[in-house]
Amino acid sequence: MCGIIGYCGHRPAVPVILEGLRRLEYRGYDSAGVAFLQQGALHVVRAEGKLANLERRLGEQNVFLATSGIGHTRWATHGLPVEKNAHPHTDAARRLAVIHNGIIENFQEIKNGLQACGCVFASDTDTEVLAHLLASFMDQGLGIEKALSRTLDRVEGTYALVVVCLDEPGVLYAARKSSPLVLGVGVGENFLASDIPAFLPYTRDVVFLEDGEMVRIDAASWRVMDAATLAPVDKDVRRITWDVAAAQKGGYKHFMLKEIFEQPKVIADCMAGRVDVAAGRAILPELAALPRPERLFIVACGTSFHAGLWGMYVLERWAGVPTRVEIASEFRYRDPILLPGDVVVAISQSGETADTLAGVRLARERGAKVIGLCNVVGSSLARESDVVFYTQAGPEISVASTKAMCSQLTALTLLAVHLGEVGGRMSRQDRMDCLHGLCRLPGILEAELPGMRERACLLAKAHSEATSFLYLGRGPYYPLALEGALKLKEISYIHAEGYAAGEMKHGPIALIDPRFPTFALAPVDELFPKVKSNLEEVQARGGRIIALTNPGGDLRVDDVWEVPRSFGPLSAFLMLPALQLFAYEMADYLGKDVDQPRNLAKSVTVE
Ligand code: M6R
Repeated sequence: MCGIIGYCGHRPAVPVILEGLRRLEYRGYDSAGVAFLQQGALHVVRAEGKLANLERRLGEQNVFLATSGIGHTRWATHGLPVEKNAHPHTDAARRLAVIHNGIIENFQEIKNGLQACGCVFASDTDTEVLAHLLASFMDQGLGIEKALSRTLDRVEGTYALVVVCLDEPGVLYAARKSSPLVLGVGVGENFLASDIPAFLPYTRDVVFLEDGEMVRIDAASWRVMDAATLAPVDKDVRRITWDVAAAQKGGYKHFMLKEIFEQPKVIADCMAGRVDVAAGRAILPELAALPRPERLFIVACGTSFHAGLWGMYVLERWAGVPTRVEIASEFRYRDPILLPGDVVVAISQSGETADTLAGVRLARERGAKVIGLCNVVGSSLARESDVVFYTQAGPEISVASTKAMCSQLTALTLLAVHLGEVGGRMSRQDRMDCLHGLCRLPGILEAELPGMRERACLLAKAHSEATSFLYLGRGPYYPLALEGALKLKEISYIHAEGYAAGEMKHGPIALIDPRFPTFALAPVDELFPKVKSNLEEVQARGGRIIALTNPGGDLRVDDVWEVPRSFGPLSAFLMLPALQLFAYEMADYLGKDVDQPRNLAKSVTVE
């Protein structure tokens, strides 16, 4: 949801900011803008649509003198995605400009008050109140620091914001509450951004800002303070381990394709140091502080929810722990009954999803311990959980999540094996077989991916006329059916429904005809005969079928797509990339914007 960047240093600021925005564009791409001080004046340049429009507009101007400034790429919450609503927003005197990610919930009340005092607003956004309110406190004689503190005290909601002001050229102020903001510490330059890749070419030294903190940066220094009291706050500088190559396309046409092909490495990285196959042990020292859970509640959104649903099957089967999986936006308002001994596993790639974080806060209020299973180091989820289990997928840039789910499945497998051992539910032999299966996956997947892509490409072309798809699966492959449908919808805009195969005859079967294809997950396991019967029911109604299956299944459908079999539900690791590649190839063939699908944003930090 919106990407923000601020820069103070020795380089021309606008190109650095634009490059940062390019790396943040996955967060939102309705409009974009920059603000910088040059020759004693505040310049604001904004454009509707993608970043390229802003770049074109900036290309017409001389923007090379400024060495500090701010930039924003927007995912609209309040106000249409048009130029007047693009950030940065200024006060009436154009003394300062603000960029903001989040929602100011009481903006209308503040706006009414400011308008009553004669303030004229230029946009329909909630953000603009920040600029006017801050300026009004400064007009009363307060310096920026105090004025910003007073402003933050008045606003309710969520924000990561950065301010540039004519009163202090070469200086930026920023603050955060429930929206991500990191400080990049360079040599003779400092950065502020929603996410690390924005400044990764310049520094890997970062400071994670906490809620309620404010920061002042200039080229040579940075200082974090408590937003309410302005007392200094000590912060650690952390060096992140991945480099700029991890956040670039590396020769692939799209980030999504690159990230699908990274999955063998993702499995290996997530397992690294956490597996002792000979002992049949998943080594999770993170969990040592927690007693064995009586019940697990998995809370997540979107693809992470699907990973959690798959996790339920392995956690119940291998660990014997009763597990419930909940969509975070439902869980948070459901008044859930949490008993002593219940543990919540919150799953989130970004660690910033508002609904998931709200679920975490609710669970903790009710006394449950929380395991945060997340990818982004230092994210809000990591900070707010009792125990953090990093999935080690590396930066995921494409809006459609792929490798993150693979890493979540790996982490959930390790969790199930660990709890299966602790609870005495899973035999040593089964644990060894499972971990051995997991360790073999990177090699198998590496070998399979190129062929999978070719098959996905042919199938996508053959079905590109379809306007609807039904995805079917049973048991641990039902969540994959949901995920296959989600991937197809979000990047190709083809309607798709994921359904439990056995539930199809209770309604969706009415939809089946020769123009409504079915994509079936039919692994050769104990439920295979049941899925086979369901597919016969589809065929009997003239439906075309693509079936993702394993060798030896003897399926007679239009398109049989075989992938190798693995240990029990671990076959999911080989079916998931096939689903992802099918959606990818379909979207690419149809000419859609694969990495930045319409209306979506990578990290959903609003309700
Ligand atoms: O960062 P999170 O894992 O919490 O994100 C959850 C969903 O917003 C995310 O998975 C979304 O559904 C993706 N667009 C799926 O590709």
